[in-house]
Amino acid sequence: MPLVLHMDNVSRSFETPQGTLMILQDVSLRVMSGTAIAIRGPSGCGKSTLLYLAGTLDQPTSGLIEILGENPWRLGSGRLASFRNQHIGFIFQDHQLLPQCSVLENVLLPSLAGFGAEGDVRQRANSLLERVGLKDRLHHRPGRLSGGERQRVAVCRALIHQPSLLLADEPTGNLDPVTAAEIGNLLLEVAAENDTALLCVTHSDVLAAGFPHTISLHNGSATFNDKTLAGQQR
Ligand SMILES: Nc1ncnc2c1ncn2[C@@H]1O[C@H](COP(=O)(O)OP(=O)(O)O)[C@@H](O)[C@H]1O
Ligand SMILES: [Mg+2]
Repeated sequence: MPLVLHMDNVSRSFETPQGTLMILQDVSLRVMSGTAIAIRGPSGCGKSTLLYLAGTLDQPTSGLIEILGENPWRLGSGRLASFRNQHIGFIFQDHQLLPQCSVLENVLLPSLAGFGAEGDVRQRANSLLERVGLKDRLHHRPGRLSGGERQRVAVCRALIHQPSLLLADEPTGNLDPVTAAEIGNLLLEVAAENDTALLCVTHSDVLAAGFPHTISLHNGSATFNDKTLAGQQR
């Protein structure tokens, strides 16, 4: 089982006029492929910050982050962007689909950066959309979809390059409980099928209960429901 995400003593603080705001302090974490983790904690505790760090959208103040054995911040900005595009999928609370593009076009968007053979990517987009029950919605604009359908499109878009790491930030926060449970189960299923490491921020007890692992954030520290996630290098 490859190690997908390794955080070693990672801290993130922000400088403000009032002084230094310490958000995450010395967080160490090892996430193997195929591991599904719910991230929990009160609003403002640093859940999104942790996810952005894991997704290379933000850089730690101190500590080391490796993804698939690579320190992404050593890559330089161009290679970092393609590394992220190839290996990491994001799903946000607000689907963030482009309103002027069709369902199929939205799923194909990440591939415009130029990975994979054109035909293969199209076929994969079609089969992903079929997989989530949207094969009759390929040419809909997002505005014509229900909230749950929009999030299913966002899931497909995140999966188009078969990422090793799938990051979801409150992906069911805007959905009714039944639809939220559907999206939660979909994430768990597709992650298991593809051996993807999944980190999912959620406030839902029901959703979190489906995840075998939990990270709880509190006052800058992370606690784990079992020891397999604890990951200091030395
Ligand atoms: N760029 C920033 N500058 C200053 N403070 C920030 C910045 N980004 C986040 N924060 C602060 O960090 C804390 C954690 O934010 P966040 O990770 O978004 O919390 P959560 O997702 O758990 O609700 C919040 O108090 C937020 O105000
Ligand atoms: Mg957040």
